[in-house]
Amino acid sequence: MSDDRLIVALDVHKFSDMEKLVHTLGDSVSYYKVGMELFYSEGAKVISFLKEQGKSIFLDLKLHDIPNTVAEGLCSLMVQGADIMNVHASGGYTMMKTAADRLHEKASEMGIPCPKLIAVTILTSINQEDWAGLGMSSSIGEQVVRLAKLAQKAGLDGVVASPQEAAAIRKACGPDFLIVTPGIRPVGANIDDQSRIAAPASALANGATHLVVGRPIRSAEDPRAAAEAIIKEMESVK
Ligand code: C5P
Repeated sequence: MSDDRLIVALDVHKFSDMEKLVHTLGDSVSYYKVGMELFYSEGAKVISFLKEQGKSIFLDLKLHDIPNTVAEGLCSLMVQGADIMNVHASGGYTMMKTAADRLHEKASEMGIPCPKLIAVTILTSINQEDWAGLGMSSSIGEQVVRLAKLAQKAGLDGVVASPQEAAAIRKACGPDFLIVTPGIRPVGANIDDQSRIAAPASALANGATHLVVGRPIRSAEDPRAAAEAIIKEMESVK
């Protein structure tokens, strides 16, 4: 039993720890997120391993640089075979549009499927105090929706956002836009360093298309049972 709306974050440093977790979760999980700590220490062999296991991959490297550097960086990464990649929406419209256009061109030149490109709106760990420190005049919610609309206009396939903002994004960006939400905590779970959190079913009910879950599964005494419990909760929202 797996549900490809659940993406488990492989936030470990070592290939062996990643391999162990993937084997423990077995066929209960079909989609994995590879982030900075694992990719920077182990590189492309992680992607090859997950592909061999028949898993889908969200390569979460959150690129943020000038348009040409981001576009070329994404083209280099695409060759490795991720299904979803991402950039920071705060890199601006031109960066996102250049990235999306170049990725599509390169994929069609190479005759390979183009991965989905999504944009991080505002990190789910940002709380009101962090936000005030950034000197922003609009609210977090307003800024998230603004960035989501900008990403859509630039030709991106979706966004990463807090589950608490999913409903407003769904309303602003229509039914086909991907909304990938970290900050998922089953009721009663430790919230760790996350701030704008929600439970799995409520995130889906608010319009999330994919849920990213890390520590509530990885740090559980029985990770497979934790994943299955989350999937069961997700099944109540189709
Ligand atoms: O352990 P936890 O469930 O909090 O993991 C959430 C994952 O989602 C982490 O890998 C984190 O980097 C990622 N993420 C996030 N907020 C974003 C984008 C990604 O928490 N806006």
